[in-house]
Amino acid sequence: MSKRFTITAALPYTNGPIHIGHLAGVYVPADIYARYLRLQGHDVAFICGSDEHGVPITIKAKKEGVTPQDIVDHFHANIKMSFEEFGISFDNYSRTSAKIHHETASEFFETLHKKGDFIEEITAQLYDAEAGQFLADRFVVGTCPKCGNEESYGDQCEACGTSHNATDLINPKSAITGATPSLKETKHWFLPLDQHEAFLKQWILEGHKADWKPNVYGQCKSWIDDGLRPRAVTRDLDWGIPVPVEGGDGKVLYVWFDAPIGYISSTKEWAQSQGKDWEPYWKDEETTLVHFIGKDNIVFHCIIFPAMLKAEGSYILPENVPANEFLNLEGQKLSTSKNWAVWLPEYLKDFPDKQDVLRYVLTATAPETKDNDFTWKDFQARNNNELVAIFGNFINRVLVLTNKYYEGSVPHPHELSAIDTETLNKLKAYPGILSKSIERYRFREASQELMNLARLGNKYLADEEPWKVVKTDPERVQTIMYVALQISAALAVVSEPFLPWSSQKLKAMLQLQPQPWAAVASGKSLLEPGHQIGKAELLFAKIEDSEIENQLEKLAQSKLANTIENAVVEPQKETISFDDFSKLDIRVGTIIAAEKMPKAKKLLVLQVDTGIDVRTIVSGIAESFTAEDVIGKRVTVLVNLAPRALRGVESQGMILMTETPDGKLVFVNPDAAHETTNGLKIS
Ligand code: MF3
Ligand code: ZN
Repeated sequence: MSKRFTITAALPYTNGPIHIGHLAGVYVPADIYARYLRLQGHDVAFICGSDEHGVPITIKAKKEGVTPQDIVDHFHANIKMSFEEFGISFDNYSRTSAKIHHETASEFFETLHKKGDFIEEITAQLYDAEAGQFLADRFVVGTCPKCGNEESYGDQCEACGTSHNATDLINPKSAITGATPSLKETKHWFLPLDQHEAFLKQWILEGHKADWKPNVYGQCKSWIDDGLRPRAVTRDLDWGIPVPVEGGDGKVLYVWFDAPIGYISSTKEWAQSQGKDWEPYWKDEETTLVHFIGKDNIVFHCIIFPAMLKAEGSYILPENVPANEFLNLEGQKLSTSKNWAVWLPEYLKDFPDKQDVLRYVLTATAPETKDNDFTWKDFQARNNNELVAIFGNFINRVLVLTNKYYEGSVPHPHELSAIDTETLNKLKAYPGILSKSIERYRFREASQELMNLARLGNKYLADEEPWKVVKTDPERVQTIMYVALQISAALAVVSEPFLPWSSQKLKAMLQLQPQPWAAVASGKSLLEPGHQIGKAELLFAKIEDSEIENQLEKLAQSKLANTIENAVVEPQKETISFDDFSKLDIRVGTIIAAEKMPKAKKLLVLQVDTGIDVRTIVSGIAESFTAEDVIGKRVTVLVNLAPRALRGVESQGMILMTETPDGKLVFVNPDAAHETTNGLKIS
């Protein structure tokens, strides 16, 4: 039975191109799902667009001396184009600067406002007097109250994932001027999440315990268990959608209030262009709504947006939110600012016509249950050993032999052997196996089952050896090739969600008309005897070592550029007098014993023979050296520093350390020659 589905993929921020992390986490699985549903004959709206508001875009614009509109215009075009070239089959890709979105989001806000669903409150917010502006979200950086990360943003800590209010940060600093902000009163509108607690508890904790992914359910539960608090949904900024109610002058909607409404406006835009009614896609209880996102978006899609939709009253809620974990690259966290990524536009340039290879590799290693690693070696291996050696090889044999033996005409089968029947039965079962995985959002598993279908074909040919049998029993070979052709056709159909480009190519080679998913499960002949197929073409091509080396070289360049960029030589300190200097009593000593200070990440307790005595020095070097590393080391010691207690141990002096330009801590070793360093460190 055909059902209606609204499938959304997180609206990407429009301040940079798409990279493999986005693809693996959100867009590839969403696209597989949407394509699969279409093949099943469902009515699908696959919706996305650019998320063009928010502080990072303003910051980028400032840095580059252009307007935020310039930034979003540039990246909207870049992102839209690369999704198209990659084959992500959105029904609509809109943008949040579109008029229809401004109208939709404003109306949504007004509706909640009229219904009394907001709390209006004047609170003290961080203010940068130098810049003359309030510091919302990423305009402020400080220490995360939860994990101690010193570079947490005002809205979210990237180290531990906690979202907070800017005023929660310890030691906040303005990201614009570096100044310590003051507090200034300002009015805002808050969504009282606490008032939605009962509903959220029931809907998520009771209703979706079994069907949401454990990582998603777990994050929601921890949020709810922590106690839900009102969240400001407006900001004192000038880039965004103006607050459409009285008192809203100079304020805009919080980006996380307007962006998810972007799914609705993008659906409206699409419906208009198709002459359809958008409302059933968002308001009919029979519609299944699914949000594809990355794990940093869970709270917004599972708690805040549903609370907004529920408060509004006329919308359906998501049936599932299959969020993925993160993808790393060559063992390191992806980073836009460090250029540690594989960018989609660059990939498409370096590997034109290899969209499916990246889709396949990202699906086969998708970070579905835990963070996962992308490596170029694995990319090459999966292409050469799976796509080429299994899938491609099977198809090639079938097409070449069919052309050779029958001039491309599908042969009449004779009596089926037990193996033929078994193989055809296995084949018939594959759509069901794949459906089961896909419908549980296990795309990784599904991609492996797809490869197993190709393996089935390969094994069948290897066992039946038509190229040998042809000499003795040409009738039997007709049957073998007929069965092999059915497997090829099935592969062409069921690979479409995963490998749409190759599926297309394979259908063209087989001269196979588009078939629904169900055609394969029905067991009916997909290629009738007498049907004429086309010529064999290579479906997948081997990737050479040199191509992989090129990519690794690119990454090595990024690493080098980062090292150089970070190698800031600190400026000279204030001048001191000779008298000041001569007060320092510096000696050469030897570390004779060392141990880790219990429960202190950074501290080692050293026994140092200074030539005068053996004394205890507590040194903050444990992140760079183990106790064993330092025993026996000759070091430079400031011996007449006033003693002070560190974690209850009295430290009687200071070991002099320095740092190499790439940030490595080294001893000022009286015996060693040094390269450039960054001046003495007090450790
Ligand atoms: N722009 C956000 C991100 O990249 C995602 C927004 S999803 C939406 O993390 F729901 F707000 F649209
Ligand atoms: Zn943190």
